[in-house]
Parts: sequence; structure tokens; C-alpha cells
Amino acid sequence: MPKVTNGRVIYVAHPTGYYEPGVHTKYVEEQLDTDTVPLNGGILVKVLAISSDPYMRHRMRDESIPLFAPPLKIGEPLDNFSVGKVVRSEDPTYTPGDYVQGYFTFENYSVYPGSTTHAFKHCKKVPKLPGLPMSAFAGLLALPGKTAYQGWYLFAKEKAKTSKTLYISVAAGAVGTFLIEYVKTVHPYLKIIASAGTPAKIDLLKSIGVDVAFNYKETDTAKVLAEHGPIDIYWDNASGPTLDAALCNMSTFGLIIACGAISSYNEDQGAVKHFEKVFERSLSIHGFVMGIGDDARRALAEFDKEIPPLVQARNIKLREHRFQGLKSAEQALRSVHTGENFGKAVVIVDEEGGAA
Ligand SMILES: NC(=O)c1ccc[n+]([C@@H]2O[C@H](COP(=O)([O-])OP(=O)(O)OC[C@H]3O[C@@H](n4cnc5c(N)ncnc54)[C@H](OP(=O)(O)O)[C@@H]3O)[C@@H](O)[C@H]2O)c1
Repeated sequence: MPKVTNGRVIYVAHPTGYYEPGVHTKYVEEQLDTDTVPLNGGILVKVLAISSDPYMRHRMRDESIPLFAPPLKIGEPLDNFSVGKVVRSEDPTYTPGDYVQGYFTFENYSVYPGSTTHAFKHCKKVPKLPGLPMSAFAGLLALPGKTAYQGWYLFAKEKAKTSKTLYISVAAGAVGTFLIEYVKTVHPYLKIIASAGTPAKIDLLKSIGVDVAFNYKETDTAKVLAEHGPIDIYWDNASGPTLDAALCNMSTFGLIIACGAISSYNEDQGAVKHFEKVFERSLSIHGFVMGIGDDARRALAEFDKEIPPLVQARNIKLREHRFQGLKSAEQALRSVHTGENFGKAVVIVDEEGGAA
């Protein structure tokens, strides 16, 4: 009987402000018999890599509060976008050795679908792409890449044909750098303005072709946008004061894509002050959640065709901030809220997940 040590990251308490490792989650270990653990018609997955994404903070709440993302359950392991390898299967779709991209629990060995059900759960077989680590299927080729692609494909690609300027906030992160490199490929004539929070991140933005890169912690965003705008398309990952600065510097008939609001995930930023600019300047605003709705499914079918070749050709690059081992998952979860991550925050749970 192959007994293994199975690490698990358990959700233990709801945060009110910032999430704290060891306080709101706990790393524990148990012995698991991989031959006998009940699968109930599912599969046993050896988890190779797990993504850390800002929206996980939304899941850390009381179950009675309705929100787009399913709440985590106290006493249960966390789950999120990940990649793994099938070690046992009672489902004819999968055989041991298959690589699978899915929504697995924060464990070394995860039973899928397991006992918890929610709308974000999914699993599909993926190939090993030459030159790319499997972790790419947890990060770049999962939530952030699909988010950037879906939002651009559905709302911005037509507008971009008659636009001159694009501003992206939280630009050095996983969604931002994917979007920049994709836009440089398909709409190279756009002037890209981008903001991030450290000098190293500003250097990265310049190195990938951003025309105007600035540190929003040291520079007045409204002043930069006034100098280099007006803005035809604003990709909003931040909301709060950044959105206000953008609203005041949009061109008439400008477009705002509301992708995220990270400035408000841990702190109350108060109301948007300049919503009146939406009517004054005939602005459009589109919000979206990756994968939600029929249009999203249409866009993501195109992602599967268009993006893997661009990633393999290095037009869109894999940039990971790797946290080694499941024990570091809690640190990874926190990093995206403090700005510590430099690249896509991903937990390499098994060394096979990080090998190219
Ligand atoms: N709509 C969707 O379906 C969807 C899906 C995925 C992601 N998103 C959203 O897209 C945004 C970026 O996500 P990501 O995965 O690319 O994350 P990420 O950039 O890899 O990590 C988050 C970054 O946010 C920045 N940040 C933290 N607090 C901030 C604040 N108060 N103001 C401005 N920036 C702050 C930090 O970078 P700095 O050092 O630059 O501050 C941090 O590194 C988030 O808002 C996320 O929720 C939306």
C-alpha cells in the first residue's frame, strides 16, 4: 500500500482586512493511501502547480455573502486553478499519467471532483508543450491569460482599430503583461501607458515595449495621463483612485474595461468620485468575469487556437514568481496583495510542475 504524506492548506477563519498566512489558513499533513482513497467515480490527481490569484480574497468570506466567486468552506482545503497528473482513475475519460488542467484542492494529492461542488470546478486533459513547464497551465494559460484575452477579444479589439492610446493599471502582473504582449502583437500601433508599484516592475514594462511606464506609488497618475493622453481605452485592474484618474483623462467615446479592483480587495477605497465623466464624455464601460457567459465561452474557444502558438513562439512570455512547495502556498496567496510577486504567482507543488 503506497502511503504518502499529503500536505493540505486548510481554510480556518475569515479575514476582515488583509489575509494572514497561519491565521486564516493552516498547513497540515496527513498520511494518505493512494491505492485506497475513495474516488467515487472520479480521479486522484498528483498536484504539480497551483495558481495564486487576487480574487481568492473574495472567496475568503462568510458563506451567506453572495459574490461572483464561490466561498471557501471553513475546515476544508482551498482550491484554485491548477495543473496535475492523474495517478488513479475511476473515470474512463482519464488514465494514469494524463496531465490535467483544472480546479484542484491545495493538497499534494487531490480527489477530483471530490465532495465539494461549485461553479468554478473544471478539469480537462492538456498536452505537454515542448519547452514549457506544466506550471504554465496553472497560470499563464489559465486564469490571467484567459482573462486578458477574453476581455480584449469581446470588448476592445474593434475599438482598438480606431484608437491611439491604451492605459493599463496593475500592468506588471500576470494579466497586465499578457495583455501588453498580446496587444503589441495584434495592434502594434497603440501607444501603451502602464503603471505598477516598484522600480523593477517599471523596468520590466519598458523592456516589453510599454511607451510610458510609471510607478503609481511615486507619481501622480492623473498628471501622467493628462500629459500622455487622452486615453482611448483604459484596462482597469485597480479601480479606486486610479479609476478616478483615468475617468478624468478619457477621450470622448472612450472605453473602460473593468477587469479588476485590487485596490479595494483589502481596504475600503470609498466611492468613485468622477462617474459623471461617463455621460459627459460618452464613455462605455464593460465589466466581465473570465469564463462567465456564452460570449466568454466563444472567446475562450479562440484562446485555445490562437494563444498556445504565440506562447510557444515567445511572443507572449512565461514570467513566473515561483513559490516552492505546498508549504509556501500561503505566502503565495498573500504576495499578490502586497505586490511582492514579480510575475505570475504560482506554487510549484511537485518539481515536475516546474520542469520545462
Ligand atoms: N475579471 C476577471 O475575471 C479577472 C481574472 C483575473 C484577474 N482579474 C483582476 O486582474 C487584476 C490583476 O490580477 P493579476 O492576476 O494580474 O495579479 P498580479 O498583478 O499578478 O498581482 C497583483 C498585483 O496587484 C498590485 N496591487 C496590490 N495592491 C494594489 C493596490 N492597492 N493598487 C494597485 N495595485 C495593487 C501589486 O502590484 P504592484 O507592485 O504593481 O502594486 C500586485 O503584484 C486584479 O484586479 C484581479 O482581480 C480579474
